Amino acid sequence: MNNNYNLKDDFPDDFLWGASTSAFQVEGAANEDGKGVTVADLRTKKSKYLDSSVTVDHYHHVEEDVALMAKLGLKSYRFSISWARIFPHGNDKKPNQKGIDFYNKLINLLVKNNIEPIVTIFHFDCPISLVEQYGGWASRRAIDDYYRYAKTLFELFGDRVHYWLTINEQSLLANVPSMNGIQDNNLHELRQKSENSNYYMFLAQAKVYKLCHKMFSNSKIGPAVSYMTNFPYDHTSENALKSKSMEDLIAFIDMDVAIRGELPTYYLRYLKDKNLVLDICDGDFETLKEGRANFLGLNWYSSSIFKITDVENPKMLDGVISNVEKVTDERMMNAEWGLSYDPVGLRFAMQTVNDRFPHIPIIITECGWPEREKLENGQVHDQKRIKYLNGYIYELREAIKDGVNIISFNPWSFLDLLSVNDGMDKRYGLVFVNRDNNSEKDLARYPKDSFYFYQKVIETNAKNVEILNINSG
Ligand code: BG6
Repeated sequence: MNNNYNLKDDFPDDFLWGASTSAFQVEGAANEDGKGVTVADLRTKKSKYLDSSVTVDHYHHVEEDVALMAKLGLKSYRFSISWARIFPHGNDKKPNQKGIDFYNKLINLLVKNNIEPIVTIFHFDCPISLVEQYGGWASRRAIDDYYRYAKTLFELFGDRVHYWLTINEQSLLANVPSMNGIQDNNLHELRQKSENSNYYMFLAQAKVYKLCHKMFSNSKIGPAVSYMTNFPYDHTSENALKSKSMEDLIAFIDMDVAIRGELPTYYLRYLKDKNLVLDICDGDFETLKEGRANFLGLNWYSSSIFKITDVENPKMLDGVISNVEKVTDERMMNAEWGLSYDPVGLRFAMQTVNDRFPHIPIIITECGWPEREKLENGQVHDQKRIKYLNGYIYELREAIKDGVNIISFNPWSFLDLLSVNDGMDKRYGLVFVNRDNNSEKDLARYPKDSFYFYQKVIETNAKNVEILNINSG
């Protein structure tokens, strides 16, 4: 009997074990060396916690941080380039040399240490000048400026960067338009602007996918999609349909357009029902068809359970997330901020994506466990994060054995950083940074217990990952 079904038994030898961050959350130096102001800088300034001016000062600790990555044994590092460090106003005539120097330094250090750079072109930090000039992503003009910025990055760094991520969590930007600097007092107008911004982001990425394939035959490029598997609260078809529709409109839309090159019909139905009209021009649909991603980046943290209620979610715009309640499953390990530990959910998610896009290469671009943490005698005993990583890596191996083409895993985050909503209280890092919301302290780096666990994972290709007892909660 032939048992060779061409299935993998384990993580492949060239699996990219990595870790993840983003520019405004780690770099600091927000006003140094010519960097322009971004929407993210202004949003965090309004935060009651901490802004982006210093964060964990990676800009001035870059050698030390890459040395720690090398000690950890990382095979890949996913980070973002700050658009406003390269073009301070988003569309300046010439790029900013000091910004180029910083990323050259970082990329060269990574390459020297055999760490594959996985570069996000745009992670929540639109240059504010573009918003002032023409409304930023609410205008079609953003397509050309994003294209020119991406082309500049390809020309500057494409000889050493082989993995590119176009936009981080586009659907979040579309559903929370203020994250792109888009405002309007009229809710319908706001939704209209925001859906057009979503459409322009699709077109901009399609052009950039096409350009990347033209410039480099061996590079991979795709979106970094926020994907949270939704499970219905009960067996009713009504709850199941609502959960699925939310998953389509919040996560699969970004994957469907990137891989299939067209707007999915569930999205068109949504627009029609909400009386929203996209700014479609001649040639747009050809543009979408001609530029496709050749892998998917997925930010997958946990699953969620939803049931239909009358409660409106005030944070998101109406429509996609209205009239649902998120239900906590108390049997799981749950973090303070609503994330839960669901390793089997990750395997389920990987199968779902593979069913929809058979054999598509997948990079887990984010995945992580948040905690409030304190340094005790130079150590941080983050046992829950170790449990989370162990369980998720165990189930990733199962997904690979199922035939899912997962090529890299980049937990969030390499080091503690500025959380988008909770400052430094909410830590995700494998490396502790000695500062808090009120004081910069000495910004010293201390590997946590999870750092040493993950180091062993990388060293042994996950042989140290223990069999998962799914009943252990
Ligand atoms: C993802 C983002 O949405 O989640 C990251 O890409 C973010 O930038 C991460 O930090 C965790 O969210 P938060 O709100 O805890 O920082």
